[in-house]
Amino acid sequence: MTDPADLSVLEALHSTPARRYLSTEPVPDELVWELLDAAVRGPSGGNSQGWGWVVVTDPDVKKQVAGWYRDNWNLAYGNRRDEILAQPAGAPGLSRNGFLGAEHLAEHLEEAPVWIFPVLRGAADATDPMTGASVYGAVQNLCLAARAHGLGTSLTTLYRGHEDELRELLGLPGDALTMALIPIGWPTRGRWAQPRRRPVEEVVHWNRWGDTRPRDGGGTGA
Ligand SMILES: Cc1cc2nc3c(=O)[nH]c(=O)nc-3n(C[C@H](O)[C@H](O)[C@H](O)COP(=O)(O)O)c2cc1C
Repeated sequence: MTDPADLSVLEALHSTPARRYLSTEPVPDELVWELLDAAVRGPSGGNSQGWGWVVVTDPDVKKQVAGWYRDNWNLAYGNRRDEILAQPAGAPGLSRNGFLGAEHLAEHLEEAPVWIFPVLRGAADATDPMTGASVYGAVQNLCLAARAHGLGTSLTTLYRGHEDELRELLGLPGDALTMALIPIGWPTRGRWAQPRRRPVEEVVHWNRWGDTRPRDGGGTGA
């Protein structure tokens, strides 16, 4: 087990990729509580905290949801396996390893020892594009807390499309929506490597969209 005291916040957030190869080894409840206690420190509009966190270990629930997930995986990615794997390195979208990891997760989703669904009240009929902002900061807290303990996570949404059935299955209030499914477990493959992203200089705009700057420009932000 990793000692969270050994990891700085910045180091953690630079080394938390999606971890999709997970062992079936159980995760102690005490650790699950700790991750969720970190999650609920996250922000929400007006500190509304309209969330709930459903921890799923029930094999029957997992089986049902994993079936939906796999159907969507096949439609969105699996059916294009050869095409995606033939893409040159550095092409936008899932990398080859990203695809293989995501494929593995799709095939083994129910084996992850713990699943967490962040649920948001009022989101079922929401039209405000900002709605998710009141839960995803907390979700990232959860992923970083997991990383501090050596536990792998990935934020997934491919189970979607069965909202009413899922609401029934989890006993959610009528206005609530699951905002993600986070499978959690001890990683068996891969590393706590820095996630690969477009260069920060390319995506940062100063005062006005399009006004990018080199990072070593020596300015003060003016
Ligand atoms: C809104 C959203 C939905 C996602 N859905 C899935 C998913 O269903 N399955 C999956 O394996 N990863 C999913 N991901 C994870 C992304 O694929 C991942 O963040 C991205 O490939 C970067 O991975 P990295 O951090 O390991 O570099 C999702 C991420 C976000 C933000």
